[in-house]
Amino acid sequence: MKYLVLGSVALAAVSFFASCDKMDPNSPGVEYMPDMYRSPSYETNAITTFRGDTVSCNRLPVAGTIARGFMPYTLPNDTMGYRMSGITMHNPLPNTPEIVEQGKIIYGKFCVHCHGKSGQGDGKVGLILGGMPHYDDAAHKDLPEGKMFHSITYGKNLMGSHASQLSVDDRWKVIRYVQTLQGKKETASVTDSTAAAKPAVKMLKGKKAPK
Ligand code: HEC
Repeated sequence: MKYLVLGSVALAAVSFFASCDKMDPNSPGVEYMPDMYRSPSYETNAITTFRGDTVSCNRLPVAGTIARGFMPYTLPNDTMGYRMSGITMHNPLPNTPEIVEQGKIIYGKFCVHCHGKSGQGDGKVGLILGGMPHYDDAAHKDLPEGKMFHSITYGKNLMGSHASQLSVDDRWKVIRYVQTLQGKKETASVTDSTAAAKPAVKMLKGKKAPK
């Protein structure tokens, strides 16, 4: 009986002292098999100093990583790169009615609002911005397709880069269509997907074009 009482007191004392760590009020004390309820892996958005910074996830890909199927465009975005593109780059897609048709659809979505249906620079946004080229003016009617690719990829002055919107193939497809507009006054039927934006364009027209 005496041992039983002593044993119970000892057990109670041990559980009492083990249950809370006086040094740290947040410490849960002695934990029984903590791995069962505390995962050793990092929690999402937790702080860790493991890699020398404090980020546990949402990390950037390793430098030089490229997406599957994506070939980086290697010519630099400068005058020399532009010249080289005109000499070395050629459309890998055949000049077939199907490709031109697909290019036309892309043109109707991404280009027509600036460049206009017939490539005269008379798209609704183009008229507001001003400074649009004509695909068939002296400077553009013989523009090499490589230079087009370069400008669509990097952007040129008022034209932004379309590299994030159009895959490499899509850029070449739309170039096939742009070529049909070089030296042509009219092409009838490209669908202007910006027609729905008429009211907004009206509103913008009152404002001065950004420089
Ligand atoms: C925001 C209006 C805008 C959009 C959208 C736009 N462009 Fe342009 N684009 C311009 C302007 C402005 C220039 C003239 C740039 C310069 O030479 O200063 C230009 C130039 C060009 C040129 C001549 C490039 C060169 O090297 O001289 C081509 C080709 C072209 N655009 C094709 C396209 C295609 C294809 C699309 C759609 C994928 C497109 N653009 C979308 C405004 C636009």
